[in-house]
Amino acid sequence: MKRGLWIHGEWKMTAEYMEVQAPHSQEVIAHFAMATEQDIHEAIASAQVAAKSMAALTAFQRAEILEHLSTLFLENREEAANIISLESAKPLKYAYAEIDRTIETYKFAAEEAKRLSGEMIPMDASKNGEGRFAYTIREPIGVIAAITPFNFPQNLVAHKVGPALAAGNTIVLKPATQTALSAHFLAKLLAQTNLPAGAFNLVTGQGKLVGDVFLAHPHVKMITFTGSPAVGISLRNRAGLKKVTLELGSNAGVIVDEGVQLDQIMDRIIMGAFSNQGQVCISLQRIYVMESIVNEFLDKLSAKVAQLVIGDPLDETTDIAMMISATEQERAHEWIEEAVAEGAKIIAGGYIDNQVLLPTVLSNVSSQSKVSCEEIFAPVVIVNSVSTIEKAIEAINDSHYGLQAGIFTPSIETAFKASKALQVGGVLINDVPTYRVDHMPYGGVKESGTGREGIKYAMEEMTEMKLIIWNNQ
Ligand code: SIN
Repeated sequence: MKRGLWIHGEWKMTAEYMEVQAPHSQEVIAHFAMATEQDIHEAIASAQVAAKSMAALTAFQRAEILEHLSTLFLENREEAANIISLESAKPLKYAYAEIDRTIETYKFAAEEAKRLSGEMIPMDASKNGEGRFAYTIREPIGVIAAITPFNFPQNLVAHKVGPALAAGNTIVLKPATQTALSAHFLAKLLAQTNLPAGAFNLVTGQGKLVGDVFLAHPHVKMITFTGSPAVGISLRNRAGLKKVTLELGSNAGVIVDEGVQLDQIMDRIIMGAFSNQGQVCISLQRIYVMESIVNEFLDKLSAKVAQLVIGDPLDETTDIAMMISATEQERAHEWIEEAVAEGAKIIAGGYIDNQVLLPTVLSNVSSQSKVSCEEIFAPVVIVNSVSTIEKAIEAINDSHYGLQAGIFTPSIETAFKASKALQVGGVLINDVPTYRVDHMPYGGVKESGTGREGIKYAMEEMTEMKLIIWNNQ
């Protein structure tokens, strides 16, 4: 049951461990090593030593390692999915979907490893550039520290490990302790590949201590973080000249225009609002529906919510299980009660039953209620009616977040208008904002973060551009 740290290709045991229980069954599933400052330094030193071997690998060799890793996930798909479901209460069907994405993410990383390139600069565009020839190359940045959340314990890790290795970097990973079994599984798979020892290191323990050491260590050249805005912003403020990319939260919204076939969009709305119990950064949290169709929309939505299967995450038929912890569930429930006190109406759910916060739909919600203006990260969605598309766009933009937003509309003109006016990193026309495939640029504006993920884009963040100029005169 004791799980060590993975440093320089070996497991290292420590003096202290932290117990982790499965959220649903509450059985103890692991004791994770609490890394000391010295251990974290050791992991960084190991990554620093391995940086030379990584930088010496050819693109072909890096691609081969990542391709092998992708194949190993395919071969161990069932075990990998069951681990996610056990440690995070993600319903098994969504855990399988996550592993399928992970397989593809590492495949994209393998492909992008071969495409990492620079560009030719037309030097003679300047009078002073005549007779000169120049091009850029992309070089690995060195040691990258990655801090990852519980909600996608393999695929959000893959979005850091994949591009880091594809670009020839080394990495020290600090996963969320609750879902560190998945990170251990990854370490075991990577150990079966030709990855140089020390190119991937895994530390578990106290997040603040690990973050502080990452920030202070001169060999850590970049911190890539997915998690809460408070922690992300604090990391960035203290990072000095280190590169920092942040994937933070959101309260993503969608607009439903008149003329939309509501029956055709309901399954997407349900998936957007409730997959993984709403614990997704692009979970659909706010729906703005034109007032002429809002009653029909609410009737159809509540009928669909009533069909959701609630229960054990490890049961393949389950749609909704408990959230990551009873404490988080209580917090979300308090936000619902607060919204009701502020005038919201409960259309479905709204309470905790048999350990599970039921999928909840609220209408008539004040824009000041936390369920609207903060990220709830729970199976809760609000539906408000609007009189014009302009007002809906205004409502979505009235947020300190800006990750992705969607609009369902039959009008091309309205779609263009919305895609221009919405203040977010990605606009989905005729879909929910909860859409993501793993090679697309992904990231937000405002407090949703800085930088972009999606393998190619993350590799740009994880490399330094070098310019080479030849004087041919
Ligand atoms: C996230 O929750 O940050 C990522 C969502 C996704 O990859 O689908």
